[in-house]
Amino acid sequence: MARRRLPKAVFDYLDGGAEGEVTLRENCRAFQDVSFRPRHAVSFPACDLSTRVLGFDLALPFLLAPIGYSRLMHPEGEIAAARAAGEAGTGYILSTISGHRLEDVKAGSSGPVFYQLYLMGGRAAAEDVIHRARAAGCSALVVTIDTPVSGMRERDYRNGVRELVSGSLREKLPFLPQVLARPGWLINFLRDGGIHPLPNVVLPGKGPMPLVDINAALASAAVTWADLRWIRELWRGPIVVKGVLTGEDARRAVDEGAAAVSVSNHGGRQLDCVSAPVRALPEVVAAVKGQAEVWMDGGVRRGSDIVKAFCLGARAVLCGRAYAYGMAAAGKAGVSRAIEILRADLERTLRLLGCPSMTKLDRSYVNVPASWQAG
Ligand SMILES: Cc1cc2nc3c(=O)[nH]c(=O)nc-3n(C[C@H](O)[C@H](O)[C@H](O)COP(=O)(O)O)c2cc1C
Repeated sequence: MARRRLPKAVFDYLDGGAEGEVTLRENCRAFQDVSFRPRHAVSFPACDLSTRVLGFDLALPFLLAPIGYSRLMHPEGEIAAARAAGEAGTGYILSTISGHRLEDVKAGSSGPVFYQLYLMGGRAAAEDVIHRARAAGCSALVVTIDTPVSGMRERDYRNGVRELVSGSLREKLPFLPQVLARPGWLINFLRDGGIHPLPNVVLPGKGPMPLVDINAALASAAVTWADLRWIRELWRGPIVVKGVLTGEDARRAVDEGAAAVSVSNHGGRQLDCVSAPVRALPEVVAAVKGQAEVWMDGGVRRGSDIVKAFCLGARAVLCGRAYAYGMAAAGKAGVSRAIEILRADLERTLRLLGCPSMTKLDRSYVNVPASWQAG
């Protein structure tokens, strides 16, 4: 449905990955390397899908991942996703690249909202948004560390995303037919006021950062370990480090005070040909030694993927495209539907596996290839 509703450039931005999309495919494929070891002839009255992250009890074992430009996919964008997450009893992570104000997103949700921080606009803009996030009641900062520059998203390049967002009319012209082919989306987009500047990246003395060249903005927004220390001084609440793929980075994040790490390769959108997160998970779990929560994201399309991640030691999973396709198809109703599909999957998988609760899952419920055991 998202493919049918969105112009090609917007759909491919959501759907695509970096370079040859090897990692994008591998993120989903690697789950197939993990097979289940079910316990049969057991029955239980109810399945417990809950988990606890950063002190919050969530009714579901997954949260909604930060998705930049959500407002381009649907005018309700981030507000719809946060509201649907809250209604389902789970959390939402708001991207820095949001078209809605963080205060409105937080107010729209009955669940926990975490803020994902890029240093776009420099430290002064970051300091401003950290204060706003605290005042609005955001419960944690999620610091994404895998974006020193934007990955080479070849579909975006071919579809003219840069030209469409910030080019002159002459530059835009060759790419306009794909937009005109989706009049329903176009009317909503124009009614919503077109492309908005970033309301959560406020440049001192200048106001919200315009959405001109996102690649250039990201290249100046890299977060280093020194920045993380600076962020810690400003933010006393929990910090999640997102974008860890090795035991080394996991250890470093824990030593720098992270309350959680998310094993992630940004949904295959950054460095191509890195490991799938589910493959890197055992190594990270071993390195963290229980001193922080371990989350993972990437390639999760079914509830059974979430169950496998828990068997390998994840405390929570982030879903990205799985809900974003729903958001693009039908706003909040689409996000709620995507969540419902995953919830039904989870319940069915636990029953077929013979395990009553997400928190009781462990390695004994899966077989993994011998080469994974070293982690
Ligand atoms: C369209 C899109 C935009 C994204 N924007 C951000 C972002 O702004 N910040 C961030 O930390 N991660 C971002 N991500 C990565 C997701 O948070 C998450 O790591 C990834 O989507 C997980 O993979 P999955 O889509 O296979 O579930 C984005 C992913 C997609 C698909």
